[in-house]
Amino acid sequence: MGTLSVDPFSRSFKGLIVWCIWLSLIQSSLATSHKTGHHFYKWEVEYMYWSPDGVENIVMGIDGKFPGPTIRARAGDTVHVQLTNKLSTEGVVIHWHGIRQKGTPWADGTAAISQCVINPGDTFDYRFTVDRAGTYFYHGHYGMQRSAGLYGALIVDLAEGEKEPFHYDGEFDLLLSDWWHKSVHHQEVGLSSQPMRWIDEPQTLLINGRGQYGCSLAAHYSKSPLSQCNITGHEQWAPYILHVDPNKTYRIRIASSTSLASLNLAIGNHKMMVVEADGNYLQPFETNDLDIYSGESYSVLLKTSQDSSQNYWISLGVRGRKPKTPQALTILNYKTNSASKLPISPPPVTPRWDDYAHSKAFSNKIKALDHKSIPKPPPTYHRRIALLNTQNMMNGYTKWSINNVSLSLPATPYLGSIRFGLKNAFDQTKPPEDFPGDYDVMKRPVNSNTNTGNGVYMLGYHSTVDVILQNANTLAENNSEIHPWHLHGHDFWVLGYGEKKFTKADEEKFNLKDPPYRNTAVIFPYGWTALRFVADNPGAWAFHCHIEPHLHMGMGVIFAEGVEHIAKIPKEALSCGLTGKRFMTGSHLG
Ligand code: C2O
Ligand code: CU
Repeated sequence: MGTLSVDPFSRSFKGLIVWCIWLSLIQSSLATSHKTGHHFYKWEVEYMYWSPDGVENIVMGIDGKFPGPTIRARAGDTVHVQLTNKLSTEGVVIHWHGIRQKGTPWADGTAAISQCVINPGDTFDYRFTVDRAGTYFYHGHYGMQRSAGLYGALIVDLAEGEKEPFHYDGEFDLLLSDWWHKSVHHQEVGLSSQPMRWIDEPQTLLINGRGQYGCSLAAHYSKSPLSQCNITGHEQWAPYILHVDPNKTYRIRIASSTSLASLNLAIGNHKMMVVEADGNYLQPFETNDLDIYSGESYSVLLKTSQDSSQNYWISLGVRGRKPKTPQALTILNYKTNSASKLPISPPPVTPRWDDYAHSKAFSNKIKALDHKSIPKPPPTYHRRIALLNTQNMMNGYTKWSINNVSLSLPATPYLGSIRFGLKNAFDQTKPPEDFPGDYDVMKRPVNSNTNTGNGVYMLGYHSTVDVILQNANTLAENNSEIHPWHLHGHDFWVLGYGEKKFTKADEEKFNLKDPPYRNTAVIFPYGWTALRFVADNPGAWAFHCHIEPHLHMGMGVIFAEGVEHIAKIPKEALSCGLTGKRFMTGSHLG
């Protein structure tokens, strides 16, 4: 009976559909005119069985993947990751390494600094803008969850219509890491024990989460007892092969998420042109091999101009520590050949682990492309902070200290406690700006008992800050180690590197003309590194050694600026510690 009657509901329903289609048309035309996109990811973090190097183990995966999914966006886009913690017995956070989080300091993903950890079962929304094209990655930033395998790539392409200052035909993304067979809990308890039990060097180096333990892809060249790996290509630990066409140019993006290892990458018979570091363009320079420290990223251009009837080895070796970890290998496969055809020349041997002259020469070649995309450093500074890096003992525990303070994070995230003036949340005394003038950096530390602390370097909003990172001898005689320092929320200009103790006279050698603009810079053994940055990003920011066990043992400091300008911090970021208690009692925070 009612089949022929047009009821008003269905008519208005049709109208609604037409309206919706029309609206979405307008929206999509708006979107193209603004050229910014929105990328939504719903992720679950969970431990799972995986064989990163052929030995089954437990890794921290995202949505059943290791490494986690690659995020790909364009400059200006919004990334929204809705992260659910499925770990069931521990909290989690994720840090977006190299993304400056302008206007969203609570999305930086640093436990106890920018937010409370996400509890098992809970979900947290990371929403932020990727404001600049470049090669980045993300990783866990709570305890030692990076070592547990919580990381993935984050690639930001140029905004639509913009052009790179170089040409390429294809791209590969390599995320480098190191892997232990002992669990992260085993590692952590060892570091926090008295006396400390060192986990020793990693078993395997991984390229995109893939390595080979106990066998070698190039066994036929080595005199080692390792046998040729038996791989079909479908294993979780099968190498990530780079398939290329001859006579093309490829951009290879390389980021290092290692927990410990400093690395060097080389490609047999091919040179690389280095063009990007940490999201900033460089004056291109050619190299046979590339040093890369934890926390750094690069883009290199590779011309496939060699004999296309052959394949070539890509090798990855350890720098700066006596390597007990074998080189990682994969293959550059000219598609004119089968990928399983083994290269006829042996894998390139990366430089000797302690050839620091080689590392320094490489670092000194890195210069900013121009001042179109990269700001010029201010010619002077408002404040200079000298940070002495030492290894120390504290009541029988082994620590790393900065100006004799070993960082131990508070229970309440700094972002909240500073914003709301909670004085009991962390040390209110200013951390030291300097170290004793007569400190001998060539000798073992005399301060036999260091202190722990969690004070904050409060920086003047918009002020220019110089940091002199000063390296020194460790607890062992005649030993000093490499430390790659990473700054959250900013890029800094690397003004220079030098030997032994920094003196005022060293300022003469600063590069103010074309210093690289980066978020990670290394200090060489017994040396210093001078950095400059503008404190123009309201928030609380970690500045620390990117070697995860070093950070865990206190090798970091906290900077904060302009926190009073932060409008509204989402409650979910602060529902722990003293800020959490305030929410519970209903007392107002603001
Ligand atoms: Cu990639 Cu605070 O670290
Ligand atoms: Cu370190």
